[in-house]
Amino acid sequence: MIDPFGRHITYLRVSVTDRCDFRCVYCMAEDMTFLPKAEVLSLEELERLCTAFVRRGVRKLRMTGGEPLVRKNVMSLFRGLGRHLESGALEELTLTTNGSQLAKYARELADIGVRRVNVSMDTLDATKFRQITRWGDLDQVMRGLDAAQQAGLHIKINAVALRGVNDMEFEELIRFSHGRGIDLVLIEVMPMGEIGGENRLDQYLPLSLARTNIARHFTLTETDYRTGGPARYFKVEETGGRLGFITPLTHNFCESCNRVRLTCTGTLYMCLGQEDAADLRAPLRASDSDELLDKAIDAAIARKPKGHDFMIDRRHTAPAVPRHMSVTGG
Ligand code: GTP
Ligand code: 5AD
Ligand code: SF4
Repeated sequence: MIDPFGRHITYLRVSVTDRCDFRCVYCMAEDMTFLPKAEVLSLEELERLCTAFVRRGVRKLRMTGGEPLVRKNVMSLFRGLGRHLESGALEELTLTTNGSQLAKYARELADIGVRRVNVSMDTLDATKFRQITRWGDLDQVMRGLDAAQQAGLHIKINAVALRGVNDMEFEELIRFSHGRGIDLVLIEVMPMGEIGGENRLDQYLPLSLARTNIARHFTLTETDYRTGGPARYFKVEETGGRLGFITPLTHNFCESCNRVRLTCTGTLYMCLGQEDAADLRAPLRASDSDELLDKAIDAAIARKPKGHDFMIDRRHTAPAVPRHMSVTGG
């Protein structure tokens, strides 16, 4: 699949549920209204949709949410999709998780063929962790990390950079992650979701600044290591580990975008930072043959926009995108 800007679409992110057992402040409101179950596609339907994308050239599938591992029976979806790894049609099947259920599922995921997991963890301080996630238990996530490592999964920790909240902890986060052979990726907070009318300005930390500060303690050497995602990676000479930066605001990476996003209702968002979307549920349900579905997918790719319009400044009080991150899964 090639979009109007010549970009090859080979990466599909799938939000398998909009629900989550945490409520991270930059991702969800405290009193979120979740989708009625009747609107959510069955796991079989999601598998059929993913399979249609694999047939059309997707090589990397990432399950996200909400929290993918809180969806009932989600392992049956992973097992079904794992068959595309066995056939060689798919190069990577993976997930982004808050880690709360990893202790339970890590072994099974590894057996299915998952090799890497991305775990969201913004702080090593249990009290702060509880504040950011509103009630999450850091120890539970730590046990998840242990289980994932024991199962042989490669881990990347995602930390959203929040000024005055976790920016004083980056050195510790680097030492902790690298000490365990885990990659660490810092992310600029994106203005998504109508949460109390705030525009995230107060918490926004440009990562160019964070990098300068980190470089006071560590030697950062640019690498060409890529995972197919938007992070740019540096080697930290003192630890031997990798540190990545995802900078949608200070260093836009849309030019090399290779992905689209599917929600659990069968809506396809062609860009994280744009509202335009295509309904794939109707063509999915209209017929058992995939002809209509394939047409709808091609038509959607043909209108993938050039990039997002995220910006954070004092004059913009409304979020660039009103939907919450948990709808499209990052
Ligand atoms: P790998 O590179 O495969 O490890 O994963 P990834 O970084 O693509 O995925 P992950 O789920 O770990 O996402 C990390 C962060 O990157 C999240 O905050 C996402 O919202 C953000 N992100 C991923 N893709 C895009 C994108 O296309 N545009 C923007 N603006 N942000 C993205
Ligand atoms: N800005 C940046 N990253 C976000 N995430 C959730 N909401 C936001 C936001 N507003 C991150 C999570 C997770 C990933 C999928 O997206 O922390 O690591
Ligand atoms: Fe849940 Fe992840 Fe959103 Fe936090 S960022 S509320 S863990 S989906």
